[in-house]
Amino acid sequence: MDGATLPNCDFLTEALAGLGTAPKSMSPKWFYDEQGSHLFEQITQLPEYYPTRTETAILRDQIDTLAGYVPEGTALIELGSGASVKTRLLLDGIAGISTYRPLDISAQFLQDTAEALQTDYPDIDMRPMVADFMTDIAPAPTLPDRPNVVFFPGSTIGNLTPDQAITLLSRVREWPGVTAFILGADLVKSADVLVPAYDDAAGVTGAFNLNMLARMNRELNADFDLNAFEHVALWNMGCSRIEMHLRSTRDQTVTIGGRAITFAAGETIHTENSRKFTPLTLRDMARQAGWRIAELVTDPDNLFAEAVLIPAK
Ligand code: SAH
Ligand code: AVI
Repeated sequence: MDGATLPNCDFLTEALAGLGTAPKSMSPKWFYDEQGSHLFEQITQLPEYYPTRTETAILRDQIDTLAGYVPEGTALIELGSGASVKTRLLLDGIAGISTYRPLDISAQFLQDTAEALQTDYPDIDMRPMVADFMTDIAPAPTLPDRPNVVFFPGSTIGNLTPDQAITLLSRVREWPGVTAFILGADLVKSADVLVPAYDDAAGVTGAFNLNMLARMNRELNADFDLNAFEHVALWNMGCSRIEMHLRSTRDQTVTIGGRAITFAAGETIHTENSRKFTPLTLRDMARQAGWRIAELVTDPDNLFAEAVLIPAK
């Protein structure tokens, strides 16, 4: 497997920086250790969490349209591949894919997923890569001498700031051999649908959010009391995003890597944004990064969109 295991010193540095300034925040990429990846897979099965089943249905319905952008011998490169469940639809339904490169930050989960895929798809060359897609990956993860199609489903793009999203899309535009970019993006809708999707009745999303603290306890020798923080999900209409926070239920001091971090009762750690798009904001983002939307398909209820981007002339 390409790519090194990401060192914990990055995690410690970012945790101390993010929790040492007000307002406190952490990048959502730190959700995804092995436990976080499994918790995310549980989220995808929740009745309230519509994105996964909706995008899956779009991919199934539109597979022939997508296949038109995947020439013979293509290397499919997936950013934030997770369990690669949706990818199986592409591998099953698009004959042109000869190589699959799943790229993810969650090393063990990626390795297990790639091994299972290799067993199920013996004729496809699996090239998993552990990497943070927000860094300038060098050399580019594309494969030479063949068309490369990038797949970025799940609305993971919504977890990036608008600037980060444009930076990522612009970088991918420069990777050699990329002919198309298949992007899944969640759409703006009523807060009555959005908020429960991020605050489910069974408490799985809360456990996923709290896993960030549990992970700091495991890997950074921190001493967070998980019972003294609660999961918060809210719709920020002005920024068109769901926000997730962890709220301290009391005044407390936590030690991380030997440093004391104080929390006032009610103070939060902002752990995730999940931006929601419209066809217009998607087009604008693509244009700013040098892409043109060649196809934009949605489900009948306009919950979720799949876009095929091609390089703008
Ligand atoms: N593509 C899957 C999984 C989405 S969950 C789907 O559509 O269901 C988001 C995935 O992105 C997780 O597997 C997580 O580990 C990965 N991820 C999050 N931030 C990342 C980063 N900065 N670099 C690489 N992978 C990242
Ligand atoms: C991976 N990402 C697109 C998910 C989302 O919907 O923003 C992560 C998630 N957070 C809470 N539930 C799911």
